[in-house]
Amino acid sequence: MSELPHDLHGRFRTAMRRLTSAVSVISTVHEGVRHGITVTSVTSVSMTPPSLLFCVNRNSRLHDPVIRSGRFCVNILHAHQIEIADAFSGRTHGSDRFLCGEWASDDNDTPYLIPAQANIFCEADAISSYGTHSIVIGKVLQVAVRGQVAPLLYQDGQYTVGLGDGVDWVVPVG
Ligand SMILES: Cc1cc2nc3c(=O)[nH]c(=O)nc-3n(C[C@H](O)[C@H](O)[C@H](O)COP(=O)(O)O)c2cc1C
Repeated sequence: MSELPHDLHGRFRTAMRRLTSAVSVISTVHEGVRHGITVTSVTSVSMTPPSLLFCVNRNSRLHDPVIRSGRFCVNILHAHQIEIADAFSGRTHGSDRFLCGEWASDDNDTPYLIPAQANIFCEADAISSYGTHSIVIGKVLQVAVRGQVAPLLYQDGQYTVGLGDGVDWVVPVG
């Protein structure tokens, strides 16, 4: 272990660029206003009960609304939905983000992306704070899955796709 403590942030960042993650959009509604952000932090937690988590920066505009509404949807993006990932990670702001892609609302008014790989509807069941982020644990209420497995992936600061889906391009971010 030769790294100096002052280089820890940089080395951690470099290491995390080697972690490939699927890209999702978290969507919610609070007081009639829709909010959404692109995330790679979704991971399953438990099958009993079916549950998952995502991490959200406390400065994100989605942070307070998702906690206050207590409901959200994880929209797992398809390999061809880079435009949506871009819109929900800063290219577009506020509820204008929902102009990108085909969105509908469930019985609780939670927005969901109709052509996503999957929609996982959750109730926020536990929230922990750590560093700059909150970890939101969602109890799964409802799931919709469609099409073949062809997720949008993110690694080394770029969008990419998995092997075996016939698409072999990499798109730089920004
Ligand atoms: C590929 C990718 C993954 C991201 N993952 C997360 C994440 O897990 N948690 C998070 O809080 N922000 C994440 N972000 C950043 C947010 O999408 C971005 O800051 C967004 O604009 C926040 O929304 P706001 O501007 O409405 O606050 C990610 C961005 C990208 C491009």
